[in-house]
Amino acid sequence: MPQRRKVVVCRDLGPDVMPTLLNHPELEVIVWPENSSCDRKWLLENAPGASGILVLLSEKVNAELLDAAGPNLRVVSTMSVGYEHADIPELAKRGVKFGYTPDVLTDAVADLSIMLALMAGRNTKETTEIWPNFVWSPFAFCGPQLSATSTSPTRTAGFIGFGRIAQATLARLVPFGFTHCLYTANPSTPPNPAADAQVAAKYGVKEVRRVDMAELARESDVVFVLAPGGSKTYHIVNEEFLKQMKKTAVLVNTSRGTLVDSDALAKALHEGWLYGAGIDVVEGEPNVDENHPLVKAPRCVVLPHIGSATTETRIGMATLAVNNLINGIFGRPMPAELSV
Ligand code: DGY
Repeated sequence: MPQRRKVVVCRDLGPDVMPTLLNHPELEVIVWPENSSCDRKWLLENAPGASGILVLLSEKVNAELLDAAGPNLRVVSTMSVGYEHADIPELAKRGVKFGYTPDVLTDAVADLSIMLALMAGRNTKETTEIWPNFVWSPFAFCGPQLSATSTSPTRTAGFIGFGRIAQATLARLVPFGFTHCLYTANPSTPPNPAADAQVAAKYGVKEVRRVDMAELARESDVVFVLAPGGSKTYHIVNEEFLKQMKKTAVLVNTSRGTLVDSDALAKALHEGWLYGAGIDVVEGEPNVDENHPLVKAPRCVVLPHIGSATTETRIGMATLAVNNLINGIFGRPMPAELSV
């Protein structure tokens, strides 16, 4: 029997997925035993000699971990679509493959983006906490309506980042009467009006147009933050941006907390520069408590990073992460390898 390859798994991925690893005859599987973020010391102690490591967003994949693992390491697989916790150039330099989980979570995150747009616009922050002190009055808690109306028959969605999740979100907005779509993109990619026209035709909206941040802020009824994290997008939503938004607009962030300056957004909500915010990701998470400026901000719904948290999606992500890991270890094509 060939020598078994060692793999280190930073979280138990549950009964639907773990047997694929645990029953694999050619793998020796070491799993972080607690139901909490994997302890760094434990990971560094268990990494030496590993052929594969399966991580989550909470694990930094850097030179320290790669040094600890040593030369047997062939693949790191993350159970996430985002990968700013991983030093991709460092992995590439060492020839270590990197797997991630695109596509399987697109619908779940798009669903949640719509939910947050509705929750923020209908001020569910205050309305779910009002009991028993509610006195009905005609205009209490009234906010902007997501759907178009006969008196305001158009709606504009603004997307910071216009990838798969943004387009799935746009598809969900069309039945609400959204007619226009503006987006910003990485400045290093050239504009492509012909491709934009095709996207507009695909979703049945009047326009899809790449704009700068200022126009996006000024024109959008809802701004969806859906770009990757990292230094290029750090605090891209700042005071300057927020000051230019419509007073009736809503901001939704379902990508990474680092894109939004929390203090600036809290100030903007206190001072009414925009109507509300729906936030699934906060800079510094999971260390967010009741004193966080966004948790205390009016008309701001803050969720604990649950964009992909449906049973179906999490099983899909875990399955893809495990398949990336196994294929990477045995030198077979990975179902979702990040090309660098
Ligand atoms: C990801 O996979 O990057 C998502 O943020 C998880 O919900």
